[in-house]
Amino acid sequence: MEKKKLKYPSDWIQRKQSGIPISVITAYDASMARLAEHTSVDAILTGDSLSMVVQGNQSTLPVTLDEMIYHSRLVRQGAPDRFLIGDLPFGSYQESEEKALHNSFRMMKESRTDAVKMEGCDLTTLKIIEKLVRSGVPVMGHIGLLPQSYLSQGGYRVHGKSESDAKILMQSAKDLESAGVFSMIMEYITETAAREITDSLTVPTIGIGSGKFTSGQVLVWHDALGMETDFKPRHAKRYANLDKIIVDALNEFDREVKDRNFPGKENSF
Ligand code: KIV
Repeated sequence: MEKKKLKYPSDWIQRKQSGIPISVITAYDASMARLAEHTSVDAILTGDSLSMVVQGNQSTLPVTLDEMIYHSRLVRQGAPDRFLIGDLPFGSYQESEEKALHNSFRMMKESRTDAVKMEGCDLTTLKIIEKLVRSGVPVMGHIGLLPQSYLSQGGYRVHGKSESDAKILMQSAKDLESAGVFSMIMEYITETAAREITDSLTVPTIGIGSGKFTSGQVLVWHDALGMETDFKPRHAKRYANLDKIIVDALNEFDREVKDRNFPGKENSF
């Protein structure tokens, strides 16, 4: 079956029905987005992981809504046609439906994202998602490991190991689907639980650290391209070792400057 471009949220559901997995990569600026535009990757997420990989924070908690909007806008400038999801950061949607609506509108108007993403599925979040969807905001959900709640979840760990935990996750996924999400991230969920949840839903599940039976996969740019020398999470595969390429290139530049080999004739006027 031919792979249809993901333009609307409904295309995500059709894609799941077609059985062709969905690939999502994170990106945080226009240069990254321009590169992603040259690939067949289906969608881009400007994730709040930017707090850690771009800003150098220890968690995703510090990044602000203004910063997320700014970076999502840069990504949109580099990738005008790719399906783009803007992550709502910690504290920007949990307070009230009004605040979530206001901030989601800001994200979509100022960054021109196609959708927003939010973590969790407690009763308040579900009500917020229902309100957003009714108001025309496409929402991607997020269950399992919730980096914005890593403190209350007791750290970064795998979810769905026990039967009761798997049951709760299944219910969460069904609740999110009923609330109207067009897709959901499943982070750090056992492969078995992730498969059962995926099979019981109509909307696609996008996995990270959740095995291969989800409807698609998402990776953080820096993990996929090997840009972090000291951080190699088990769930991610390095499709390149850019850390080494960049360090070697910068050392060569430094050497050539010191040897007066750069700039050469071809770089001079
Ligand atoms: O912020 C992010 O990059 C994410 C991914 C881990 C899915 O939410």
